[in-house]
Amino acid sequence: TSGELTDRYGRRHNNLRISVTDRCNLRCLYCMPEEVVFLPRQELLSFEEITTFVQAVLPLGIDKIRLTGGEPLLRKDLHKLVRMLSALPGLRDLSLTTNGLLLEEQAPRLYEAGLRRINISLDTLDPQRFRLLTRRDGLERVLAGIQAARQLGFSPIKINMVALRGFAERDLVPLARLCRDWGLELRIIEYMPIGAEEWERDKVVTAEECLQWLEESIAPLRPIANDPTSPAQEYEYLDGQGRVGIIASISRPFCRHCNRLRLTAEGKLRYCLFALEETDIKPLLRQSPPDLLQVQQLVRQTVWAKWPGHQIHSAEFVKPTRTMHAIGG
Ligand code: GTP
Ligand code: 5AD
Ligand code: SF4
Repeated sequence: TSGELTDRYGRRHNNLRISVTDRCNLRCLYCMPEEVVFLPRQELLSFEEITTFVQAVLPLGIDKIRLTGGEPLLRKDLHKLVRMLSALPGLRDLSLTTNGLLLEEQAPRLYEAGLRRINISLDTLDPQRFRLLTRRDGLERVLAGIQAARQLGFSPIKINMVALRGFAERDLVPLARLCRDWGLELRIIEYMPIGAEEWERDKVVTAEECLQWLEESIAPLRPIANDPTSPAQEYEYLDGQGRVGIIASISRPFCRHCNRLRLTAEGKLRYCLFALEETDIKPLLRQSPPDLLQVQQLVRQTVWAKWPGHQIHSAEFVKPTRTMHAIGG
């Protein structure tokens, strides 16, 4: 079977996020606990299994893939997966979301393998607050990773910042200035209840607040029309110097236009970041030879089971047991 992956609400799914590992070399407060039991290596999908899955879903209209983690650059030889996926006909967009720590070292071979687009997570330019937030050191390495990616010609490079109360007040404007100076797009992400810490509405710095701070300290902004399926609403500075994206999952949910499916590192398909159920694809991928028709059928069922959107604002909201590091954002 081929044909599009449309769900019960008419949302066409063309975007697949693949987590390649649940391991991370940081421990961001908003994402994961300090102590975690990681997946045993034999549980991870191999690059061949991931590629088989992608081959099964390309005919269903998936044409956009993002590699995530944990920290994807901790997966040994990730550039080999990039090469395997870049070689597949029909893939329009392949990208990576990383914390940047290992990027300086790996950027050349990722570029060479065909990757052109990277989003890098960075919440502060202050070394002390970096350590508070990530529970590790590494700001200098992240900055070196960003520089390496710029020099190689990765484009666009986006910087993802989760806006947390107690941090963003001081960190947003300096980060926004750096992004303007370096020609990067800053994306401000509202804090979602999917990490290990207890989430409270008061800890969410809203899109509205962030926009106000940027306008007061830097320059006026105006919204620009962009792809409605993108989580980010784009803004441009009126002085012509760059753009900002706002991912307002809490104050302005965008589930109505959701086009995303997620594959976890151990081969579970999730129809939502906040899904409470998953489809185990791994047994099908481990059959030899794998039955692509069966894979496609299971993917269709998963998309059909998708709910209208997250329930964060409802009294019935249930936080998934997986924290963000095991989903991939
Ligand atoms: P682009 O293709 O560059 O637009 O990437 P992206 O924004 O889809 O990917 P990225 O990994 O940079 O996502 C940044 C953050 O947006 C994630 O870490 C999440 O916090 C949030 N995000 C991405 N997709 C979704 C989604 O489907 N739902 C919600 N609620 N948040 C999402
Ligand atoms: N809320 C919003 N975004 C989060 N991320 C991790 N945890 C959260 C959360 N609780 C984002 C990181 C990174 C991406 C992989 O996930 O900023 O950009
Ligand atoms: Fe899609 Fe779920 Fe994100 Fe909403 S919260 S946009 S339904 S993945």
